[in-house]
Amino acid sequence: MNQTLETMWKRRSIRKYRPDSIPEQDLLLILEAARRAPTGANRQKWRMIVVTDREIRRRTAEACSGQIWMADAPVILCLVTLPGGWQVDGTIVLDHAILAATSLGYGTCWIGAFDGPAVKGVLGIPEDHGIVCLTPVGLAAEEPAARRRKPPAELFRRDGFAEPVDYNVE
Ligand SMILES: Cc1cc2nc3c(=O)[nH]c(=O)nc-3n(C[C@H](O)[C@H](O)[C@H](O)COP(=O)(O)O)c2cc1C
Repeated sequence: MNQTLETMWKRRSIRKYRPDSIPEQDLLLILEAARRAPTGANRQKWRMIVVTDREIRRRTAEACSGQIWMADAPVILCLVTLPGGWQVDGTIVLDHAILAATSLGYGTCWIGAFDGPAVKGVLGIPEDHGIVCLTPVGLAAEEPAARRRKPPAELFRRDGFAEPVDYNVE
């Protein structure tokens, strides 16, 4: 299997982190992967906040429905859309960052449970901007098993909605 697929296969949601910091060159590769993500009409109406300050991480995690374990990771990324920006663009950007982080050996976890106004308050995000999702980034302190996915025949259809597609690929 090639490296891109291996990275996709091995990604897990990580909810326990080691406190080790992320070397700057790794962090910059993660950011660069995000910057290279496609956006509709190449509008790039997004901004990413890279939270490394310990106290701001703690307050950000608090604003994410009290998911305080996020703050154990040395970095939290928060994906913001500018007014008129598409949520889907921001989602692709954050997925690029997450897969790049995975390929470099770091754990991540999509965080969609957050109090928008509270996160905006902590990070100084203007009211008319959107928040797509956040993720902690850091070395994993757990190795969760892969979570179950629905079988192919339930998820895929060929040439219309009626005919299921089935296959067996590990
Ligand atoms: C849009 C989105 C929002 C999510 N929000 C949270 C969250 O707030 N807290 C959390 O612990 N996990 C969150 N998750 C992680 C999912 O629970 C997880 O991806 C799913 O259970 C599958 O597990 P896996 O990521 O290990 O494959 C979120 C995932 C997505 C895609």
